Amino acid sequence: MEEVIKRSSRKNPVENQILVIFGSNGDLAKRKLLPAIFQLYLDDLLPERFAVIGAGSQEKSEDVNRLDIANSMLEFAKTGAEENPDKLQSFLEHVYYQQVNNQSEEDFGLLKTYIEHLSATLDIPKNIIYYFSIPPFLYETVAAHLIKYGLNAEEDGWKRIIIEKPFGYSYDTAVELDKNLRSGFNEDQIYRIDHYLGKETVQNIMVTRFSNGFFEPIWNRKYVDRVEITASEKIGVGTRGGYYDSSGTMRDMIQNHLLQVLAVVAMEPPSIFDSESIRNESVKVLQALRPIKPSEISQNVVRGQYIETMVDEAIQKGYRQEKGVAPNSRTETFIAMKVFVDNWRWGDIPFYIRTGKCLPDHVTEVVIHLKPAPHQLFKQRCVAQSTNMIILRISPDAGVAIDFGMKIPGAGYKVQNVNMAFHYSDLAENKISEAYERLLLDCMIGDSTLYARIDAVKASWKFVDPILQEWKKNPDIPLYFYECNTWGPKEANALFGNKELKWRAPFKKFKTD
Ligand code: BG6
Repeated sequence: MEEVIKRSSRKNPVENQILVIFGSNGDLAKRKLLPAIFQLYLDDLLPERFAVIGAGSQEKSEDVNRLDIANSMLEFAKTGAEENPDKLQSFLEHVYYQQVNNQSEEDFGLLKTYIEHLSATLDIPKNIIYYFSIPPFLYETVAAHLIKYGLNAEEDGWKRIIIEKPFGYSYDTAVELDKNLRSGFNEDQIYRIDHYLGKETVQNIMVTRFSNGFFEPIWNRKYVDRVEITASEKIGVGTRGGYYDSSGTMRDMIQNHLLQVLAVVAMEPPSIFDSESIRNESVKVLQALRPIKPSEISQNVVRGQYIETMVDEAIQKGYRQEKGVAPNSRTETFIAMKVFVDNWRWGDIPFYIRTGKCLPDHVTEVVIHLKPAPHQLFKQRCVAQSTNMIILRISPDAGVAIDFGMKIPGAGYKVQNVNMAFHYSDLAENKISEAYERLLLDCMIGDSTLYARIDAVKASWKFVDPILQEWKKNPDIPLYFYECNTWGPKEANALFGNKELKWRAPFKKFKTD
């Protein structure tokens, strides 16, 4: 058994600490990380003494950096920044800047000196998080430079690194990346972020399942007919064409986000609720995914690419017209696939996973379709489909709904499906925190429950890698083109193998009004 399985989780209070963000001038830092840290500050969740060091390639003064961050907050943490101008000013006193060229070893010597100086003058112990908000090809270089200068050593305080996805480009490269990181960091110092796991509503799937007596008994092959997981996006690849064209939907969304959600939906209850026990259970699901053989790929995986389309009297660009995308690119922007989890609970129950860009709505949800009642007394009188669904809506309008048949008032026995829904927004006093707030805070206290462990990363690569390889090898496997603002290629419905079944159009049934 791997060393990681044996380690137990440490839950600490938020100790005084330093956060170094590599790539601090980039999009992710500006849009997500810094607003999340600012929100934690507004919520009084940061320790008394902390410093955020932006490490970026640009040359700029501390003052200019503070001004840049203030502007980012006003743009991306608008309400918090506008309503709390004094807090914004005091937050800026905690942010610092050091110019670092990630390729230059010497720059890490300068960074070390700067950290030592701040640690001494601000009286902050050298508890340090290094956030790798940088292109993946730099992960190993930055880690090697940190190791070279002993910035990974824990004698004078803990050190943790947060690595963004994708963790590797394939199974082999993920193993290689891990090997290189592990030359200077232990598994419990490495936090592989998957922001889907930080979503409040993904965590709620575990609570829905394991804190209620009535869901768990039916959560298995005896009562469940199939499971649908959808993560649709309205926007295209936008300015990320360069990255996306060498990645595609399989690496961008399926290998990480959607398989992690599937693992949470399908896992066994852990015997205790701690980081290792939960991750021990979810990894078993990923390890139990039934490999898709090359000969089965066309029947079980549908890939698509969006094309130029007229939407609301305006032309929406096709994928091949996006900046940074090859004009004859065969990269997929949509995937629908049928997956099986070969274990006792789920034997032969299909999980249908679908995700894509330029679809009609930005929606993430899981739908558990239950088997029909054993004897269909009202079959001829049903207005719509007559099976029950449990809908776990992750976003937007987060919540849980149960869909079931009810008698339409009046003569006779006409049956219609109705929806009993709980909306998170009804818990009005509780704001739903952004995934990055939750995940950063967890790393600050040393809780890795919601971070992907290496065995899970490897298991999901092991599952998707053969599909990617076969696509590369065999150009005859179709890439279907679809118009923007549709639910992807119609071939996605064929995955059900039953003309009466089709994907749920997610936006229809889960509304607050
Ligand atoms: C990111 C992907 O990890 O997740 C993006 O790289 C995608 O391509 C995004 O748009 C979707 O996240 P969310 O939270 O908006 O569903």
